[in-house]
Amino acid sequence: MPFFLIGYMGCGKSTIGKKVSDRLGIPFLDLDLLIEKEIGMSISDIFSKKGEGFFREKEKHVLNNYVFKSNVIVAVGGGTPCFYNNHSFMKATGITIYLKVSPDELVNRLQLDDKRPLLFNNKLNLKDFVISNLSMREKEYMKSNYIIESDNISINDICKVINM
Ligand code: S3P
Repeated sequence: MPFFLIGYMGCGKSTIGKKVSDRLGIPFLDLDLLIEKEIGMSISDIFSKKGEGFFREKEKHVLNNYVFKSNVIVAVGGGTPCFYNNHSFMKATGITIYLKVSPDELVNRLQLDDKRPLLFNNKLNLKDFVISNLSMREKEYMKSNYIIESDNISINDICKVINM
């Protein structure tokens, strides 16, 4: 079954996902890349030209319609579990793993980011935005099947969950 890595932007879903995939020899997929392929535009172009609502519809559509092979690691976007019934869908079709990173560490990692539309479009300073946005999203993240503290790299813990 698919193992969905969820968590806030900058929590390491793609980086850690690829490492776990190499270690365990199972494939890795990134939902944002699947969306970019389906629409033929980058995520930041989708946000700026079509708007967040359009992006969220496509995100749900790709999540629901892509045929995930069994035993695949899927990194989803930071917002994916928090829109529509995406989180219940992921839990019904696979296992969700929340990579939990503290707001301070997220801010450190996101400081130099210039690719994430939600970060460069908002008017608050980065720290205030991350704290308020994460506090809304974390209720959903905490419903994951597994929660892994990930301020420090957590590859072994994730491998254990997937190998169970
Ligand atoms: C988003 C996170 C991004 C991407 C989009 C929206 C979010 O993915 O899906 O920019 O709402 O948190 P990452 O979490 O991989 O950066």
